[in-house]
Amino acid sequence: MNLSVQLSPRTPRGLLLKNPVMTASGTFGYGTEYADFVDIQRLGAIVCKGTTLEPREGNPQPRLAETPSGLLNSIGLQNIGVEVLVREKATLWASWQVPVIVNIAGESIDDYAKLAARLDGVAGVSGLEVNIGCPNVKSGGMEFGTDPKAAASVTAAVKKASSLPVIVKLTPNVTGIVEIAESVAEAGADALCLINTLRGMAIDVSLRKPSLGNICGGLSGPAIKPVALYMVYEVAGSVKLPIVGCGGIMSAQDALEFIMAGASAVEVGTAQFVNPRALLDVLEGIEDFMRREGVRDISELVGAAR
Ligand SMILES: Cc1cc2nc3c(=O)[nH]c(=O)nc-3n(C[C@H](O)[C@H](O)[C@H](O)COP(=O)(O)O)c2cc1C
Repeated sequence: MNLSVQLSPRTPRGLLLKNPVMTASGTFGYGTEYADFVDIQRLGAIVCKGTTLEPREGNPQPRLAETPSGLLNSIGLQNIGVEVLVREKATLWASWQVPVIVNIAGESIDDYAKLAARLDGVAGVSGLEVNIGCPNVKSGGMEFGTDPKAAASVTAAVKKASSLPVIVKLTPNVTGIVEIAESVAEAGADALCLINTLRGMAIDVSLRKPSLGNICGGLSGPAIKPVALYMVYEVAGSVKLPIVGCGGIMSAQDALEFIMAGASAVEVGTAQFVNPRALLDVLEGIEDFMRREGVRDISELVGAAR
C-alpha cells in the first residue's frame, strides 16, 4: 500500500510525507515531548508550536477550558522564539527521519518574511506553516487571515523570503473561506491547511467571570469537525493545491472523512490530550481501512466523496 503524500509538488525539494498523518501545531510541542508515548518517526510530519521572532510568555492563566465536545485554549503563542528554535530544536530534528514543519506567526508582514528568511536553509526544517489566524492574541496574524489581500501579501512575502515549501493555515473566523483560499493560492502558497480554531468563550458561573484569563479563546476538538470538514470540502472544490485537513479529528474515520472531502493529509491536535496514542491510532486505522477496502494508494481516496 502506498500512503505517501507530496504536499509541495511545485517546489524543487518538495515535501514528501510517508503517510498523511501530521501533528497540529501547538499540541505536540517540538516533537521531543511526546517521544515516550509515540514512535514519532512513524508520523507523516511534525508541525511544531507556533514560533515568533522573539520568545513569548503567552496569555494570563487560566488558558484552557473544556466545553461540551471541545476545548477552548488561549495559550497566546507562548514559544521559545526563532533563534532558540534554530539552535536547540532544529539541530535535533536534523537527525530525524520525520520531516518537521515550523509554524510561524507575526505581527506584521515583515515579521513573517524575517521568520521565513531565518528558517531558510536551516538543517532539520522541511517546511513552513504560516499561521494567519491565531484567535487569542493581537499579534497572531488574525487580521491577515480574514482579509484576502492581506492574506495574499503575507503569502507572497514568505514565498519570496524562503525556498522552503509553504503551507498557509487558514482561520475559520471568516465569512468566505473560499475567497481567502483562492487569494492565498494565487499568491504562491504550495499547500493549504484548514482550519485553525474558532473564536469562543466560556463563563465560570460560580466565579461570575470568564473561564479564560484572556476571555476569548480558540475552540478545537470534535465540536468543530463538521465546520472544518465542510470548509475543506468547499475549498477543495475551487483550489487545486494539496490541502491539509484539521479540526476535531479523533479517529481514523474522522481522518478518512477529511481525505474523502478532498484533503491530501490531516493534522491531529486535541485528540492527543484525550489519547496520547491518537496519531498512531489514526494512522493504523487508515491502513486497516485501505487493506479492508483493497485501496492500494491513498490518493484513490482523496476527494472520493466529491
Ligand atoms: C493548546 C493548543 C495550542 C495551539 N497552538 C497553535 C499554534 O501555536 N499555531 C497554530 O497555527 N495553531 C495552534 N493551535 C490550533 C491547532 O493546530 C488546530 O488547528 C486546532 O486545534 C484544530 O484541530 P484539533 O481540533 O484537532 O485540535 C492550537 C490548538 C490548541 C488546542
